[in-house]
Amino acid sequence: VSDDPAAAQKKQVGEAAAQLVENGMVVGLGTGSTANYLIDALGRRVQEGLRFVGIPTSSRSEQRARDLGIALAGFAEHPEIDLTIDGADEVERGTLNLVKGLGGALLREKIVAAASRRMVVIADESKLVDRLGQHAPVPVEVTPFGWEASSHRLGQMGARVHPRRDAQGSFFVTDGGNLILDCAFGPIEDPPQLERAIRDIVGVVECGLFIGRADTVLLAGEGGVRTLRRGA
Ligand code: 5RP
Repeated sequence: VSDDPAAAQKKQVGEAAAQLVENGMVVGLGTGSTANYLIDALGRRVQEGLRFVGIPTSSRSEQRARDLGIALAGFAEHPEIDLTIDGADEVERGTLNLVKGLGGALLREKIVAAASRRMVVIADESKLVDRLGQHAPVPVEVTPFGWEASSHRLGQMGARVHPRRDAQGSFFVTDGGNLILDCAFGPIEDPPQLERAIRDIVGVVECGLFIGRADTVLLAGEGGVRTLRRGA
């Protein structure tokens, strides 16, 4: 971490966000390298006596949290979540709309975010953009059956579509057993409209545009961690 400024910032913001968790809370645990620092810091707080239950957004985060002794639960016991803390691939200045899912967990992440009273995003400054789509493609989770038709439709909407593959060159398969199409739209003028249009395609399970879900973003930069609030 000491040689890698981005990793140091992710660690700093993950640790800062861990301080937001209070005794008795139900907490959505995000996925990704920034969220890993959060989970590690929460594991240390549990050792010091903090009591909360986590609802993980991926099997990877579930395993990490379990290994650290964090109590886990599901929606059967807790259909409502007090606070979710998760990373992002892009954060739009002002609206705090997000692109998420480069880590492949967007469906669970969106379900957890939708069930949460509050969502705090943790990111380093490189994720802040004027327009979503500037750097990141929009990941779209689709059913394996008919994915080619979904891909064709997304192409007609103006995206350059790349089916995601794993390190071995096989299709990347999500925790939900689906595929991901990474859709490069370029800078997106109207993210809420695009989210609706993508979700209207039959075969699309979810997309990585998160509209109006983040209340607060903790952003780590060279000067430390600053807080962005939606609309401010
Ligand atoms: C996973 C995600 C991650 O939150 C996002 O990819 C950010 O990851 P990282 O913290 O590793 O930069 O959406 O599906």
